[in-house]
Amino acid sequence: MELFNVYPLNPIQIERAKGSCVWDEQGNQYLDLYGGHAVISIGHSHPHYVEALRSQLDKVGFYSNSIINPLQEELAEKLGRACGKSDYRLFLVNSGAEANENALKLASFHTGRKRIIAFRGAFHGRTSLAVAVTDNPKIIAPVNQTDQVVFLPYNDVEALQTYFSAHRDEIAAVIVEGIQGVGGIREASIPFLKAIREQCDLSGAVFIADSVQCGYGRTGDFFSHDYAGVLADMYTTAKGMGNGFPIGGVIISPRFEASFGLLGTTFGGNHLACAAAIAVLDVMEKEDLLANASTIGSYLKKELAQFSRVSEVRGRGLMIGIELPEDLAHVKKDLLIKNRIFTGEAKPNVVRLLPAMNLTKAHADQFLQAFHERLNA
Ligand SMILES: Cc1ncc(COP(=O)(O)O)c(C=O)c1O
Repeated sequence: MELFNVYPLNPIQIERAKGSCVWDEQGNQYLDLYGGHAVISIGHSHPHYVEALRSQLDKVGFYSNSIINPLQEELAEKLGRACGKSDYRLFLVNSGAEANENALKLASFHTGRKRIIAFRGAFHGRTSLAVAVTDNPKIIAPVNQTDQVVFLPYNDVEALQTYFSAHRDEIAAVIVEGIQGVGGIREASIPFLKAIREQCDLSGAVFIADSVQCGYGRTGDFFSHDYAGVLADMYTTAKGMGNGFPIGGVIISPRFEASFGLLGTTFGGNHLACAAAIAVLDVMEKEDLLANASTIGSYLKKELAQFSRVSEVRGRGLMIGIELPEDLAHVKKDLLIKNRIFTGEAKPNVVRLLPAMNLTKAHADQFLQAFHERLNA
């Protein structure tokens, strides 16, 4: 059997990984500033993480959500403390799309409404509702097309207010990334996030903060939406939560009532996934990774802004977008092939940095040196 060929691949096979570095099968070392789409949060193969998974596997790797799993409770308690939302509750899933799917579904159950506001440039995943609120017609199959979703311009307070005025009683939810990732590292403005909160309060709609890429400490705040000083009704998370082990979650405000069977999953919240997520939170706390993300991120942004060929540097903490002019479209690829540095990309011609949160200044400097070389090649 052959693989279903949907991924354009880089000609690299990773055999080993440690911290912010990976090695190919010939032993070549690469600096990883992308973490496989923002997933590696505490560094590859962190010893505490490896030990936590290994010892959990020796005990029990999986059982379903039909028995008591104290690891889920430990995770919920630690996560509540880490994100400052101990009064919220946690529903565990396996991926970011699933987290958004369940958040949107819960919003609709709760309000009895169908209409959802999403924003231009948004990416929320590839399952049916998650893809319906994603602003990319190419990945929306006919069966996922729905006129219940409206895409408003991002950061446009007036458009939001106008839409709410006309449809106040129909809107189930507003879903928004604090910083659009796939959309090119674009930050939601404070007035915009405040306006979403205000309009949701006026209409009874649910504010869903998609924190799958921009959350979990990466920006220096636990959720990137936090800098606006408003609370969302639900936060969705995945990626960095398990440092590579598939796990996601919906963090749900006390205004929602749970009932048996309302939501469900076979794999979500299994023992191994919880052990991985607990280990990630332990390391984040012990190594003060939010502070490091903030410090190294600010340093990188400041240095990058000094390159005259850079059109714009955007983002917060270790979620950085470097927009380049058209004639430098080759830089991302050259960084990988010539300097052995993994970065990501976004349109239009944005190099995306989403490294582990314990990135060192030495690694940041290695990148800056390589970037300088590429711009002057
Ligand atoms: C903001 C955002 N939401 C949701 C998702 C979907 O996550 P997953 O690929 O784990 O389903 C992504 C993935 O890139 C994302 O960036």
